[in-house]
Amino acid sequence: MPPIVEIRQVSEHAGQEVVLQGWLYNLRESGKLLFPLFRDGTGIIQGVVVKSAVPPEVFESVRGLTQESSLRVTGKVRADKRAPGGFELDVVNVEVLQRVPAETPYPITPKDHGIEFLMDHRHLWLRSTRQRAILGVRHEIIKAVRDFFDNRGFTLVDTPIFTPAACEGTTTLFEVNYFEEKAYLTQSGQLYNEAAAMAVGKTYCFGPTFRAEKSKTRRHLTEFWMVEPEVAYAHLDDAMTLGEEMVAFIVERVLEKRRPELQILERNVENLEKIKTPFPRMTYDEAVKILQSKGSEIQWGGDFGATDETMLSEGSDKPLLVHRYPSQVKAFYMAPDPERPEVALCVDMLAPEGYGEVIGGGERLADLALLEQRIDEHKLPRKAFEWYLDLRRYGTVPHAGFGMGIERAVAWICGLEHVRETIPFARMLNRLTP
Ligand code: 4AD
Ligand code: MG
Repeated sequence: MPPIVEIRQVSEHAGQEVVLQGWLYNLRESGKLLFPLFRDGTGIIQGVVVKSAVPPEVFESVRGLTQESSLRVTGKVRADKRAPGGFELDVVNVEVLQRVPAETPYPITPKDHGIEFLMDHRHLWLRSTRQRAILGVRHEIIKAVRDFFDNRGFTLVDTPIFTPAACEGTTTLFEVNYFEEKAYLTQSGQLYNEAAAMAVGKTYCFGPTFRAEKSKTRRHLTEFWMVEPEVAYAHLDDAMTLGEEMVAFIVERVLEKRRPELQILERNVENLEKIKTPFPRMTYDEAVKILQSKGSEIQWGGDFGATDETMLSEGSDKPLLVHRYPSQVKAFYMAPDPERPEVALCVDMLAPEGYGEVIGGGERLADLALLEQRIDEHKLPRKAFEWYLDLRRYGTVPHAGFGMGIERAVAWICGLEHVRETIPFARMLNRLTP
């Protein structure tokens, strides 16, 4: 029996007979020759079936074979400079596991399908070369994020999904029944990260987060994955430096390991090669002035919209760190700047090329009395935050951290127009299936 190999490994088997397990990607027929394209999730290879070289039933089983039929194919690997991957397969046998019926063909064909159709068939669309490339980059980004923190002595501490209260404002909460009580799906692991940071010093969590975003945008999902580091005794500047080092590390890793995927996605890699620390920094005040000079309606005190963020990042090749937003547009837990209490010690990192905010974070309010006041001002239920207030009662220290939405990072690094393609099964205002 020849060895079962993956298509990505065929170069190690030139001249040998191998077995590939996969699906039919495409088929070209030319009389006594058949040219099936096989895919197996690791690559694509063209096979050649010569009528005179295989048993008649094998030739017949491939003739007219439908797209995405599953099969096990035996053949000899042959180097061929003209072939896309540099190799072809001279087929000697094909075992069809399931033949997709010709009457109900695979719904996704090379023709142009509308985006809603593709999203409705996401469970199948994932098989396309482009979607596979995105999945590969997403995987690499997640792996790089973990390596980055693991190599720096951070402890991964998982935070809960069912939570008793809001972290990022009450308007985007998903409420669920929790036996006799109400619970909310987590918007961020941050508050629990703060507890973990006081236990282990440097921590991060990485998990799904939920926001009932009621607007349709290119950047918002209702379920997204976020990595959130939190560091005891860290200040705003430390969080900014950590964020830029993490982002530069991730981009470098993707460039190192995922060039073929970036090429499939037609990503301009020169732009990614410019992502080196340090990143430019500016205050919110400066940002407002720049925006006003460019014709934005923004007034001091307002939050930036997507177009503002795009305008700000124009003219910069690197991500931009905007810090010290007005406290009034930020969450309750933000530490005020001691020199200017109306602004918060917070930061947003805006990705270049118009991708907008990828990171939000900053220094946390360490003072018990002020934190209690903020919880009241934001009309948050004090009782649900008693545990959080304990962190200020028992050895409170300055601390800081941030959150990066994985899908925003994937969209930017892959150069995608919309976050719906960055996650295997997107959840959005109007989409809960497949
Ligand atoms: O700026 P946000 O709301 O910050 C927090 O949640 C903090 N508690 C994080 C922290 O300091 N530990 O969200 C952080 C990031 C954003 O910069 C963005 O990348 C992503 O999460 N994000 C979303 N991504 C996709 N869809 C959404 N609806 C998102 N909302 C936020
Ligand atoms: Mg934010």
